[in-house]
Amino acid sequence: MADIVIKDLIKVYKTGKSEVIALRGLDCKINSGEILAIMGPSGCGKTTLLNILGGLDRPTAGSVMLDGSNLVDLSDADLVKHRREKVGIVFQFFNLVPTLTARENIELPMRLASKGGKEMKERTTELLKLIDMEPRANHKPDELSGGEQQRIGLATALANDPPVILADEPTGELDTVTGQQILHLFKRLKDEYKKTIVIVTHDQRIGQIADRVMTIVDGKITGEVSGEEFSRKIADTSRSQLGLS
Ligand SMILES: Nc1ncnc2c1ncn2[C@@H]1O[C@H](COP(=O)(O)OP(=O)(O)OP(=O)(O)O)[C@@H](O)[C@H]1O
Ligand SMILES: [Mg+2]
Repeated sequence: MADIVIKDLIKVYKTGKSEVIALRGLDCKINSGEILAIMGPSGCGKTTLLNILGGLDRPTAGSVMLDGSNLVDLSDADLVKHRREKVGIVFQFFNLVPTLTARENIELPMRLASKGGKEMKERTTELLKLIDMEPRANHKPDELSGGEQQRIGLATALANDPPVILADEPTGELDTVTGQQILHLFKRLKDEYKKTIVIVTHDQRIGQIADRVMTIVDGKITGEVSGEEFSRKIADTSRSQLGLS
């Protein structure tokens, strides 16, 4: 897959007479096969950006080149195809269907893409193995822990084997150890499955897995450091707060 190139992206939400400018001319390149982390204060436009990349919403102006097409120009039907084939989305609150088992939740995106039968069953089993959830495949979400539900969320995003994974605060609801496991799983998706991954997060451990960490303020990218540099800065800050340097 090619890089994703975002140029001068603008998103204005109109509600009644008031307008909110969520993105104000955002420029950004996402390299194929990298983990890009996005950080920034509440309301700065992180979810808006992910929703546009995921084809859940359309921008007001600008362009997003992904796999040879500009998302902005896609017809409604092509945008649905984009959502189904090109991207998988991982949500903070897992977004599983409560009445379906873990296995059925993973199968759902494949059914919506008109896949079924043996191919779907095999793919589901493969994904359950990847996330180490085979023994709990027939449990419903409310019978699973937060970490287990998020692993199913990840498998659901991977169901149709999209080249791009988008995650919005995927560790926000998880305890430290479980969050670490989910971050490790993202790293495997990059290393072993060559996925391009964009993660919006407040989790400072993101430096351990991200190639780059970008900051957004007020609808624009304001800075970028490598994952390593980010981790070093976090360590320096805690050392100085403890009076060690
Ligand atoms: N559907 C909507 N209608 C109107 N305004 C919206 C809508 N969605 C988001 N906004 C506004 O757009 C701005 C950016 O919102 P967004 O959800 O992208 O922020 P965020 O960076 O994801 O914040 P958080 O860290 O709290 O999740 C905010 O001012 C928000 O109130
Ligand atoms: Mg958000």
